[in-house]
Amino acid sequence: MQNKEIKDIPFASELRTYVQDSKTFYCMPGHKQGKGAPEFLKQIWGDKVFSYDITEVSKSDVLAFPKKGLKFAQERASKIMGAQRTWFLVNGSSVGIHAILGALVKPGEKVLVHRECHKAVLMGLVFSGAVPIYLEPVPNLPEYAYGSVYLGKVEELLSQHDIKLVMVTSPNYFGISLDIAAMAEICHKHETPLFVDEAHGTHFAFHPDLPSSALEAGADYSVQSMHKTLGGLYQTALLHSSGREPEADERIDLMLSMLQSTSPSALFLMSIDAALAEAEKLGKQRYGDLLEMLTYLRPELHSSEFIVVEPPDGVLFAGGFNNFDPLKLIFRSAEREEINLIRIKELLSEKHGIEIELAGEKHLLLTLSLADAVDLEQTREKLIYFSKTIEQLVIDGYGDVEEEDDFVDNRELPIFEMTPRDAYYAPKNPVILSEAEHAISASMVCIYPPGFPLIIPGERINDAAIHKIYHDHGLGFTIIGIEEFDGELHIDVIDG
Ligand SMILES: Cc1ncc(COP(=O)(O)O)c(C=O)c1O
Repeated sequence: MQNKEIKDIPFASELRTYVQDSKTFYCMPGHKQGKGAPEFLKQIWGDKVFSYDITEVSKSDVLAFPKKGLKFAQERASKIMGAQRTWFLVNGSSVGIHAILGALVKPGEKVLVHRECHKAVLMGLVFSGAVPIYLEPVPNLPEYAYGSVYLGKVEELLSQHDIKLVMVTSPNYFGISLDIAAMAEICHKHETPLFVDEAHGTHFAFHPDLPSSALEAGADYSVQSMHKTLGGLYQTALLHSSGREPEADERIDLMLSMLQSTSPSALFLMSIDAALAEAEKLGKQRYGDLLEMLTYLRPELHSSEFIVVEPPDGVLFAGGFNNFDPLKLIFRSAEREEINLIRIKELLSEKHGIEIELAGEKHLLLTLSLADAVDLEQTREKLIYFSKTIEQLVIDGYGDVEEEDDFVDNRELPIFEMTPRDAYYAPKNPVILSEAEHAISASMVCIYPPGFPLIIPGERINDAAIHKIYHDHGLGFTIIGIEEFDGELHIDVIDG
């Protein structure tokens, strides 16, 4: 058992042995295995958490130059996930995205970027100075959930420009997965590496009925959040390389040593190691059971007010769309033109103790994971309860919209005028949003969640975006990049 544990969970098991013997710490951290930790936290967390909050003491290895437990754990992770190399990340998928941009694209070089990307990609463009060419998103779910890209457009842009890297998001927040195999083929024909932001698809490797993982489909690099769909602590993630270009892997090493903390807590690193081992051990069985249960349950979850989007019927097969993550449950408003789902989400939390992933303009999104397979009968009953609860809340009028407006989202995108980096360094000042049409934005405006950009710094603001911000603000969405003062919404624009 002991040997198997060391083989399966190399880093976490080594630290367990280390921490079991009590020690005298004449080194950091200041709380010294919890002795000096705040009493309040000890009461609510217990002492144990602090004894594992160590870094770079003799057994904990060094993340930037791993030689022992962390090296073995990362090698094991790469085998499980089908990579040539895997790096453990302690600042989420975000830092993996930044490292890839820094390692593969020099300032001034071009990168093809899925415009429906997470803001981490755009921040990475500011850091790296890469010049983006945006790939317009193609709608795959009726209303509001954009996902894929046209493969023909990827081919066309790669033929026209000297592009150093293609970056796409797959799956997106709603589980829409791209045809990575076809995209990789196009990229490799042009000798351009393909990076997939697979932050939401870490579980794909663990069951054949889930979409293929990006690496399995032929991507060169991918990043996956361990905290989003597997059992890692928040902040944990994996960066993978298929090893096609060993020199680039060395630059990734360097980038990560610049971008990550030199004091990563063993809590994060142990959680990556142990969560991967558990998914490997239990994933096939548990995901299989959960997927089977959901197949029967989905039709029962429809109600007079919501339909559950059924893959593939509820999804538009447009662009490079390939598959859909069946562990995303999307309840789409069936009848109403306008509905306040933000209010419904709040009531679910306040009155029913239910937290959901996202409320959109027409959708409520639930994400399921291995945790929901532990007690399938309970999961089934709770989902039925959920479906009935949201139906009743809407029937009772809680989803009613006070003031309907005439907004129609035509998704006309703002036009690219300058790179996010140039916009970041340009002089700027705030203007009233309704007067900002035609100005160049210095703000990145995202509706949160999912956090995809409505306006990217360096884009010329258009009427469609302004209208959507007012509309979504009126519905109570969180909008970042917009400030409200003097009773008006403001946006930062480039001076002159
Ligand atoms: C598509 C996508 N990519 C990247 C990220 C950033 O991941 P992390 O929070 O692990 O840094 C997110 C976070 O929500 C995301 O949705």
